Amino acid sequence: MTVLKINEHQPLSHIQPEIYGHFSEHLGRCIYEGLFVKPDSGIPNVNGMRCDVVEALKELKVPVLRWPGGCFADEYHWQDGIGPKENRKKMINTHWGGVVEDNSFGTHEFMELCRQIGCKTYINGNVGSGTVQEMSEWVEYMTFSGLSPMTEQRRENGHAEPWTVDYFGVGNESWGCGGNMLPEFYANEYRRYQTYVRNYDESKPIKKICCGANVDDYEWTKVVMDTAYRRTPEHQHGFMDGLSLHYYVIPTGNWDHKGSAVDFDVDEWYQTLKKALYMDELVTKHGAIMDTYDPEKKVGLIVDEWGGWYDVEPGTNPGFLYQQNTVRDALIAAITLNIFNKHSDRVKMACIAQMVNVLQAVILTEGDKMVKTPTYHVMHMYRHHQDGQLLSSSLTGVEGAGTGENIVPKLTESVSVNAEGIITVTVGNLSDCAEEKLTVQLEESGYQVVEARIVNGPAIQSHNTFEDPDVVSEKAFDGYTVTDCGIEMVLPAASVVEVRLKK
Ligand code: AHR
Repeated sequence: MTVLKINEHQPLSHIQPEIYGHFSEHLGRCIYEGLFVKPDSGIPNVNGMRCDVVEALKELKVPVLRWPGGCFADEYHWQDGIGPKENRKKMINTHWGGVVEDNSFGTHEFMELCRQIGCKTYINGNVGSGTVQEMSEWVEYMTFSGLSPMTEQRRENGHAEPWTVDYFGVGNESWGCGGNMLPEFYANEYRRYQTYVRNYDESKPIKKICCGANVDDYEWTKVVMDTAYRRTPEHQHGFMDGLSLHYYVIPTGNWDHKGSAVDFDVDEWYQTLKKALYMDELVTKHGAIMDTYDPEKKVGLIVDEWGGWYDVEPGTNPGFLYQQNTVRDALIAAITLNIFNKHSDRVKMACIAQMVNVLQAVILTEGDKMVKTPTYHVMHMYRHHQDGQLLSSSLTGVEGAGTGENIVPKLTESVSVNAEGIITVTVGNLSDCAEEKLTVQLEESGYQVVEARIVNGPAIQSHNTFEDPDVVSEKAFDGYTVTDCGIEMVLPAASVVEVRLKK
């Protein structure tokens, strides 16, 4: 018998809403076309922001958006993206597809997008090819309310009031595309650059994110925590609020042939899900190193790039990283978000890569058409965990599923309770073919189901297209019965289920 035991009397860590954050880069059709269109494009928009996409993102309760990159961030010069559009510099986006970047989406547009979505702002600064002065002036331009050349410029550009910058990333992948730095060198650069990320409004301090490791580079975490955190007397005063981590699930593990987004077999299904489960080890091990320097967990682990990365959709620009999204991606999302919930004592923010039209996107667009992906539907169900309190929960009797070396536990789960006392249980069935009976037991009796939803599709490769947008969708789930001490559920193969309980 497979049992999920929940102790509703044992609340653990707070699930910061930012764990459900997103990432948007000047890459392919994420910003341009996906989020932002020409006002006269014929696609309904408000100040250039697509109404259909903004509406869908609001339903998702997007808590925070990271911008402008990614690798693009360390080539981005913010002054190119302000002022009258006709005067903005044009450049080649050398990282992504060699297309012309006309800088028509810049700081003002990003702030407007976040205003419309209703989310917090996470700006990623340029350490790789930018100066301390440039970064410092950007922060001043965005957040200072007094008199200065930067605030004067902002006023001239139509925005007298400062904006709120909630998070500021000091460099991106500084070990790679962001400057190919060694950890000692970067840690010192971090110390210097962050000094000038000033808090002009002490009531809204900017949370500073230090560039963290690539996947399992534990040495990076150790050196950066030691050099940039431990050896800083002021570290209690916002010297470093977060340390990032990037990890992508690449089915084959081979960057040249990552595997198809839609054309995969059962072996690849399990190979992929096993790689998604690896996030748990990464978060645990990086977290353990952070614990040695920061036992009180003041520095958040910020997984600001995560998701599945496949070969691009055949026939599309290889530099645009456009890929489809299947039931397999729904399971990657379920696994990953359950892991983040379970580690919410350390993981304080995470950003799925990327929001629209790039990698494991929640939304795909084509002209004026838009489709929600399976990942969208999972994130929509999981929004109920935002701001909740993680509850102690554990599975017993779970069997393995898989092929060859790729054996995974059949189930993934996490449980939280919100301020109204509603308990949200999210479970994924990783088996490609077998349903799973699950007994959910709570400490107390008398719970009722207030909502039950499921995301699944007719096959593991199922996905939504512009012609057929609801092949994989979120539907009401009735595969449960309420018992004296909980519920009995039957979870269909390859599905993600949410059940919400209340006394
Ligand atoms: O998300 C695509 C790219 O992946 C980002 O630009 C970079 O940070 C990472 O390597």
